[in-house]
Amino acid sequence: MTILTELTYLVAAILFILGLKYLGSPKTARKGNFLSMLGMLLAIVVTLLDKEILDFTYIIAGIVIGAAIGAYAARKVEMTAMPQMVALFNGFGGAASALVAYSEYIRSGAQMTTDVSVTLVLSLLIGVVTFVGSVVAYAKLQGLITGAPVTFPGQKFANGILLIGALVLGGFFVYNPSVETFLLVIIGLAAILGITSVIPIGGADMPVVISLLNSYSGLAAAMTGFVLSNNVLIISGALVGASGIILTNIMCKAMNRSLANVLFGAVGTDGSSGTGGARKDKSEVAQYTAEDAATVFEAAQSVIIVPGYGLAVAQAQHVLHELDQLLTQKGIEVKYAIHPVAGRMPGHMNVLLAEADVPYDMLYEMDQINDEFQNTDVALVIGANDVINPAARTDPNSPLYGMPILNVDKARTVMIIKRSLSPGFAGVDNELFYDPKTMMLFGDAKEMVTELIKELKNL
Ligand code: TAP
Repeated sequence: MTILTELTYLVAAILFILGLKYLGSPKTARKGNFLSMLGMLLAIVVTLLDKEILDFTYIIAGIVIGAAIGAYAARKVEMTAMPQMVALFNGFGGAASALVAYSEYIRSGAQMTTDVSVTLVLSLLIGVVTFVGSVVAYAKLQGLITGAPVTFPGQKFANGILLIGALVLGGFFVYNPSVETFLLVIIGLAAILGITSVIPIGGADMPVVISLLNSYSGLAAAMTGFVLSNNVLIISGALVGASGIILTNIMCKAMNRSLANVLFGAVGTDGSSGTGGARKDKSEVAQYTAEDAATVFEAAQSVIIVPGYGLAVAQAQHVLHELDQLLTQKGIEVKYAIHPVAGRMPGHMNVLLAEADVPYDMLYEMDQINDEFQNTDVALVIGANDVINPAARTDPNSPLYGMPILNVDKARTVMIIKRSLSPGFAGVDNELFYDPKTMMLFGDAKEMVTELIKELKNL
């Protein structure tokens, strides 16, 4: 490996780090993505130009086929199916790391130093768990298998035995790398572990698991980097591993759950919205029409829009942006309040609103905006439920208790657009629906916002 190659790897690593920094805010995220892609392009090109590369025919065929599938999948995927797509990408990352590490074993045979054999075992173990676990996560979210937690007695114990078994065999392999069978059995155990560690987790908790698997895929890549003595792979793998675990932690905190509770609690619904709890009678709450809502907006000076999972289901982001423009034209100050776990994946609301070209400076994170609700005329909630449920503050018996929420209930008027009184992800009733200052606007978010726009234009 030449000094030029190493220097280019260093530049790529710097671009990755800058990319991650810029990904920290929606405003700079595109730039962050671009810099990271540039870093990856540099790393790939310089690796391909390295003399150790064997045959370009397969490489070019792989690039063409992979790019075609990737481009097709990215263009076709529905916004609501993004979590399972990310799951697949992570899984392929894990599988690629494991395959590269294994082929290095085939290439160099048993002539390997201890550090290489140790990292080879870890790369296979983590890579295969990531691949199989991600495929299970994909199948749950795609509805190919049940999204509900699947448990059996002694599950945790069995998982522990599988892990210990794989590690012990790994120890044997490090001692005697000429026995390939050790590696094959480790792969088998890791595959079973991938299944048994993900099936007990509810479909709706999958985004947290996917973020964790993302972190694993980074670790697998870093291990493979050690096997190949490739610095850029070690650095990029470590960055993915670290950022994945940080994201997992942020999500757990925002859901007021510990990682152990997500992984071993076997809680969470099957991931579908609004089917979990007892349906209440709509006559118990104050129902309003789009016409009523338009009249209230006419008298308002400030509106905070709170989007949630229902916005994604209804794909109402474009009409919502039309509504915020209309309200702004009428001289009303409009802001968006974004809860960190609104929707079903990190940044879900940011991505949806960016798709509709809602300006970034209209979006406020929970901590920035929570004190403003008390001075706001209308809090307009679109398909959000758990992230505005006051039980998180007041009811110690609620599964939501302790979760930080948006202070929607402090606004002068609360408008909630949803189809029924069904609960959200957590499956708990929301007392805010019954609050006298709440106007329930029952209907699909896209249809209701479209109606609202029509009524506002008529006034
Ligand atoms: P939820 O609490 O899940 O509520 C979504 C609401 O949207 C439902 O009550 C549903 O009511 C309504 N809805 C569904 N389709 C609709 C449509 N077409 N039009 C209008 N409304 C519709 O959503 P949230 O407030 O965004 O909270 C997110 C929840 O997911 C939190 O509990 C969070 O912990 C969890 N979670 C989040 C993540 C991430 S990273 N974001 C990951 C895992 C879990 P109707 O059926 O009555 O319409």
